Amino acid sequence: MNFYTRKWVKPEDLNPNGSLFGGTLLRWIDEEAVIYAIVQLANSHVVTKYISEINFVSSAQQGDIIELGIEATNFGTTSITMRCEVRNKITRKTILSIDKLVFVNLNKEGTPTPHGRTEITYAYVGIDKIKKDE
Ligand SMILES: CC(C)(COP(=O)(O)OP(=O)(O)OC[C@H]1O[C@@H](n2cnc3c(N)ncnc32)[C@H](O)[C@@H]1OP(=O)(O)O)[C@@H](O)C(=O)NCCC(=O)NCCS
Repeated sequence: MNFYTRKWVKPEDLNPNGSLFGGTLLRWIDEEAVIYAIVQLANSHVVTKYISEINFVSSAQQGDIIELGIEATNFGTTSITMRCEVRNKITRKTILSIDKLVFVNLNKEGTPTPHGRTEITYAYVGIDKIKKDE
């Protein structure tokens, strides 16, 4: 699993108890996952379809540096399934895990369309190669 994104937990990210707000973390994860899906499927028209149980394993506190990890676990016909782990960058303690996030590849009409991908692409995908209006 690649941990591409790091976040520094700031006052505006906290809940009233003083720890990282779950909704904020989920927003970060959704964005991380859609970027991963866009790059893997080389198409900017992908949407969140399904997110499985979310396990908030431990909390993060103001000032913590956390990192978001995403990995594709299955390539369907029009979908991509990923798993996610968030951990403390310093202690490596798990903060959250999600077994299944499903994103769907759409055409310009917003209809699911085959993406043709079967495995993780590690090579750099140039931004000009990502379909935006097809
Ligand atoms: C995404 C959307 C176009 C899919 O429409 P749909 O009629 O469910 O499409 P399909 O039945 O053809 O399924 C598309 C893919 O999603 C998968 N899928 C559908 N429902 C699923 C579910 N509950 N769990 C996991 N995968 C699911 C299907 O297996 C299929 O994948 P595959 O082609 O790789 O086998 C439609 O559900 C939609 O617009 N949803 C809203 C998306 C959105 O707004 N997301 C942002 C929310 S904040």
